[in-house]
This record gives sequence, structure tokens and C-alpha cells, in this order.
Amino acid sequence: MRGKSLIAAGVLAASAAIAGTPQLSAMPGVAGPFSPAPARVALGRQVFFDTRLSEPAGTSCASCHDPAQGFAGNHGSRIGVAIGSRPDLVGRRNVPSALYAAYVPPLFFYQDDDAPAPTPFGGLFTDGRVDSLSELVRNPLLNPLEMHNRDDAAIARKLRTAPYADGFRRAFGADVFKSTTSTLAALGAAMDAFLQSREMAPFSSRYDAWVQGRATLTPQELRGLKLFKDPDRGNCASCHKFNETSTNPARSLFTDFGYDAIAVPRNRAIPANRDPRRFDDGLCATGRTRGWKDPDQWCGYFRTPSLRNVAVRERYMHNGVFSDLRDVVAFYATRSIEPERWYKGGRPFDDVAPRHLGNVNVATMPYNRRKGMKPALDDADIDAIVAFLRTLTDAPFEDAARRKARQNPGTGLVPAASAYALPSKR
Ligand code: HEC
Ligand code: HEC
Repeated sequence: MRGKSLIAAGVLAASAAIAGTPQLSAMPGVAGPFSPAPARVALGRQVFFDTRLSEPAGTSCASCHDPAQGFAGNHGSRIGVAIGSRPDLVGRRNVPSALYAAYVPPLFFYQDDDAPAPTPFGGLFTDGRVDSLSELVRNPLLNPLEMHNRDDAAIARKLRTAPYADGFRRAFGADVFKSTTSTLAALGAAMDAFLQSREMAPFSSRYDAWVQGRATLTPQELRGLKLFKDPDRGNCASCHKFNETSTNPARSLFTDFGYDAIAVPRNRAIPANRDPRRFDDGLCATGRTRGWKDPDQWCGYFRTPSLRNVAVRERYMHNGVFSDLRDVVAFYATRSIEPERWYKGGRPFDDVAPRHLGNVNVATMPYNRRKGMKPALDDADIDAIVAFLRTLTDAPFEDAARRKARQNPGTGLVPAASAYALPSKR
């Protein structure tokens, strides 16, 4: 649906779409505001928390996308990837937050004025392989390492006998359970609505209150914001895009939905990584499925995540290798200056397959440093950026962020929630 509306807006470039993935001649506008039907939101929410829907029962979407952890977390696993419905099996990627997922556009190519070639943006999952939330929902339900249902019919059977089945009939018609296809379509629509709801995109952080002139940021936080934006220092905003002068908070999702190969260290705790020849190639797998020309140029690329609520997250990056936010920022500053600090196996960029090392971004700030050079950010700069990132925590997750800050002290104090006013209803 969203893909179609982009095309209808006339922004499809004249040059051919790249095998099943459209190339747009202008960046699409930000999505939203959404106004999902309340009955559908309520149903999607019930599905999200329903532990009957896994095989065996006991695991819901919320088991991994835990509201107490900003709708991320790893279902009790401590190794950076989640336990599924069978406790002896874990996944292969870190669980991202389900907050703000409704703002991710479908996968497309776009060529910036000064870019040599079109580059991909958008798409759900860290490799962009799914275009819409309604399509996405089947994936965790069927994934053997997640909710482990055998097939669509098994999912449809569980929904038909759910305590909220009558709600589905009221919202989608008496015939909704007539076929597996109609049942799954209703499930997709309900989940789409829930993920578009205010609960899943609160925009209630101190940063938002500050943009609206209802809160102040500390001098350290403001310094962090400046470093985050400065192209000669952090340069973070070149990918984690935001706009602090816009009253539309969706312009500040802290991502441009683009992809990059930043070569995070290998997570040796992932069981599948015991095989030294096994690499998570990211975006190029999607490119292969869609028949792109030369998909291998995208191996090692992962989608730039939103940094909203990043201070609440238990684990960072697609492979969950980091647990401390300060480490993540320090990694950016010193990746190529002190590679031995990050790449424990002795090989720099050790989670990128050797034949794809040429894809790793070594050109843009802050990656363009080499051994012996001065880092673009010193310790105080890193602390300031972390302090700024902590202003991106939405009101419902402030307590969780404070708890996490106590476990990993980083820059220390998180200001008390009472120091700012909660936003009024939009
Ligand atoms: C066992 C853990 C687990 C369960 C259960 C689970 N997920 Fe996920 N979820 C993940 C992981 C891991 C990813 C990232 C996968 C990837 O990028 O390939 C993910 C990604 C997502 C995303 C994409 C976010 C983004 O920014 O691209 C959404 C939305 C999502 N899940 C919703 C759901 C819904 C809805 C359910 C229930 C039907 C669910 N998940 C159940 C682990 C889980
Ligand atoms: C060239 C693009 C680019 C730049 C510049 C960049 N990032 Fe990122 N960032 C990414 C990508 C891509 C990922 C995901 C990588 C992965 O999962 O392997 C990421 C992930 C992160 C994460 C982890 C989020 C999560 O939920 O796991 C944090 C925190 C972060 N970046 C902060 C920063 C900061 C701070 C800066 C500036 C010092 C910065 N980034 C600069 C592209 C970029």
C-alpha cells in the first residue's frame, strides 16, 4: 500500500526500477501521522501480547519486544540474540525495538545529487527484506527460532480459537475466519494498526519537549547534540538524521533509513558463529532474492536504526555485540585507530566475510581514521554524545533507562523525570 502511494505521487524515476525494487527520483516525505482504527489497534495489541500463538505456547511478540525495555530485549538471553519458543534455540540477530517501526518506508533506491550511483533505503528488518508490517507479522510466527508455527494454517487455527476471535469478526466481518488467507490478512491489518498507534510512537522524550520549547537540555547534552551533527566530528546525523527545528517529530527519527557497512565486531557468543565461515551478509541477501545486479556490493550493509530509546536497549547492533551505549560511541571514535580494542580475533572487521571487506565504509567521518591518528572524538566528547542520546528516551521508558544507566554507569546521571514537562496530547 505504502509502496503504491509513492508511485502514485509521481516520484518514480524514469530510469528502470532495479529488479523489483523501485527507484525514486525524490526522497519520500516522512510517514504519518497515522490514525489507525481503535478497534484494530486493540486487536493488534491483544495479538502482540498473546503467548498462545507460539509453538509450544509461551512466547508472544512482547517476549522479545518487551515493553519494559522499549519494545526490544532478547527474551532473557544474555548473549545478544533472543531465545525463541523452544528454550534451547536462539536466533541469529539482536531484537530491534518495535517502536516507530510504522515509519520505515518500503525498500527503494534513490540517487542523491552527488552520489555516484543509486543506493537503497527502507525496508523492514535490518536487511530490508520485507516492505510492510502486515506482511512482516507472519515472519516471527513461522520462524523456527522464534515462534515456530508450522504454517499459515496453524496460525489461522490459533486466531480462530483465540479469546478475542469475536473482536476479529466485529472488526473484519463475520467471514474473517473463512479462509487462511482472509485470517492472515486481518492479522496483518490488526498488527499494522497497533504498530501505528500512539503507544508505539510516543514522541514523548525530553528531546521532543525541548524541540517544542517545553524543556531545557543541559550544557553537556547540547554539546553532545552539536558533536552528533558536526560533519567534522561525530558526523552521526549524516545517517542518524534529525531536524530539531521542525515541529513534526517524525522528522527526528534519528535515521535516514539508509544502509551502511560499519563492520561491528563479531559476536562470538552466537552459537551459529562457531562456524568461522559463517557470516551474516545483511542487505545483499535481500538483493539476491530480488534479483539486483551485482548484489554482493551490498554484503555487510545493515539498515541504520532509529536511535529513539537507544538508552533503554539491552544490546546494540544487528548482532547484539555491544551491551553498553558508551562502548558503541567509543567504537565509532576508535574503530580504526585501536582495532585491537574491538576485534578480539585479531582481524579487523572480523564479522565481514573476507571477500566482502572492500564494502566496509572507511571513507566517511568518523570511519576515515587510521592507526596513529587522533580520534575524531575524545572521552569527554563521547560522554557528551551519550548524554545527548539519553535525551531520546520516551517518558514511559525513563525508569528503564535509569535502571540501565545504573548497571552501566557510562556518563552517570540521568536527569530526574520531574525536570521536564510531559508533552500534552497531540
Ligand atoms: C524470539 C524473538 C522474537 C519474537 C517472538 C518476535 N520478534 Fe520481532 N524481531 C525479532 C528479531 C531478531 C528481529 C530482527 C530480525 C532481522 O532483522 O532479520 C525482529 C524484527 C521485528 C520488526 C522489525 C523492526 C525494524 O525496524 O525493522 C518488527 C516490526 C517486529 N519484529 C515485530 C514483531 C511482531 C509483531 C511479533 C509477533 C508476531 C514479533 N516481532 C515476534 C525477534 C522476535
Ligand atoms: C555512515 C552511516 C552512519 C554514521 C555516520 C553513524 N552511524 Fe550509527 N549506525 C549506522 C548503522 C548502519 C548502524 C547499524 C549497524 C549494525 O547493526 O551492524 C548504526 C547503529 C548505531 C547504534 C546502535 C543502535 C541499536 O539500536 O543497535 C548507535 C547507538 C549508533 N549507531 C550511534 C551513532 C553515533 C553516536 C554516531 C556518530 C558518532 C553514528 N552512529 C554514526 C550508521 C551510521
